Amino acid sequence: MKNLTILDHPLIQKKLAIMRDVKTPHHQFRILLNEISSLMVYEITRTFPLSEVTVETPLETTTCKVFDSKVTLVAILRAGMGMLDGVLQLIPTAKIGHLGIFRNEENLEPVEYFAKLPYDIAETEVILVDPMLATGGSACFALDFLKKKNIKNIRFMCLVAAPEGVGKILEKHSDISIFTCALDRKLNEKGYILPGLGDAGDRIFGTK
Ligand code: PRP
Ligand code: URA
Repeated sequence: MKNLTILDHPLIQKKLAIMRDVKTPHHQFRILLNEISSLMVYEITRTFPLSEVTVETPLETTTCKVFDSKVTLVAILRAGMGMLDGVLQLIPTAKIGHLGIFRNEENLEPVEYFAKLPYDIAETEVILVDPMLATGGSACFALDFLKKKNIKNIRFMCLVAAPEGVGKILEKHSDISIFTCALDRKLNEKGYILPGLGDAGDRIFGTK
C-alpha cells in the first residue's frame, strides 16, 4: 500500500511477539516499547533532509552530509508517551508536543482533552507517535489538528495497525507516511485490533 511501511526487521518482530503475549508484565512491556521505538525511528528518519557542513579532520578539511533540522515528537496521550523515551535515545534534541485524545468506548469516536505543542513546531520535522492505529479516528483527529496549525512535515509512527485505520489515514491524509511494525488482521466488534496486544495504555501504565 502506498505510504505504508511495515518495519519487519527481526529484532523488532521478536520484541513485538513478546509484547503481544498476555503474560508479559507492564514493566517489561514498557521497556520493549521503548526499545522498538528506537529501532523504528532509525528507519523512519532515513528520508530526513540532509545539509552539507564543513568539518576539519586532523588531516584536512572535508564536507559531510548531516541531518540538522529540528524535530518535534507529538505523542497522542496516553499510550504515545510510551514511545517517547525510545525515540529520544536517538534524537535527544527533539521537542515534545502532547495531544490528549481518548476513544469514546460506545461509538469509538475520538475525544480531545488536552493539547500543548512547541511554538515553532511548523518549522520542524514532526513524528506523530501512538502505538495503536485501530479505527484511525484518533490518528486522523490528530493529523487534522496539526494540519490546521499549518504543520506539514508529519510522519505517523505506530506499533500495530489495523487495515481499517490504515485505510482511513490513506483516504483522508494521503500525504502522510505511516510506519508500523505490523499490519494486523482486523478489528473486533469493540474496535480492538486482532490479534493485537490489547489496550496499549493499560499495558504500559498497568491500569488494568
Ligand atoms: C488507544 C490508542 C490510540 C487509540 C486507537 O488510545 O493509544 O490512541 O486507542 O484507536 P482508534 O484508531 O480507533 O482511534 P485510548 O483511546 O485507549 O486512550 P489511552 O491511550 O488513554 O488508553
Ligand atoms: N486501542 C488499543 O489500545 N488497542 C486496540 O487494540 C485498539 C485501540
